[in-house]
Amino acid sequence: MASERTLSIIKPDATERNISGLIIARLEGAGLRVIAQKRVWWKKKDAQAFYEMHKGQDFYKGLIQFMTSGPIVLQVLEGEDAIARNRAVMGRTNPVDAEPGTIRKDFGVNMQRNSVHGSDSPESAKREIGLCFKKSEIVG
Ligand code: TYD
Repeated sequence: MASERTLSIIKPDATERNISGLIIARLEGAGLRVIAQKRVWWKKKDAQAFYEMHKGQDFYKGLIQFMTSGPIVLQVLEGEDAIARNRAVMGRTNPVDAEPGTIRKDFGVNMQRNSVHGSDSPESAKREIGLCFKKSEIVG
């Protein structure tokens, strides 16, 4: 598998608890390299654009509210098989179902406040990276 890029987000529940560094250490420990990073506070329209595929789901409104409730850290991660590698170190969506040693198991609060986002396919990664970063902000 060649080197790949994925979009990662450290969510408001994690920035609120000041554990971004602990999460980044997990990502780096899993063989992922942070090649772009910025801390932002999303407006409603930013969160709606990012999560447009979930519009109409019962959790959508709460998700948008949560993702605009505080600062987040956007990152581009690079590494071999980065998309699957990141999903593996993140763990399953609901922290109670996540495998021991994963970020969501160790830091996630609940299904909504689950500390991190990671792209789920090459198509999503391309779309999400394009939404969040200019080419000049990515330094591989
Ligand atoms: P999803 O893409 O299904 O999960 P993942 O983040 O693991 O790729 O959902 C996106 C986010 O929406 C998820 O991280 C948290 C939120 N969400 C809920 O709040 N409730 C839910 O029932 C689901 C499925 C997701």
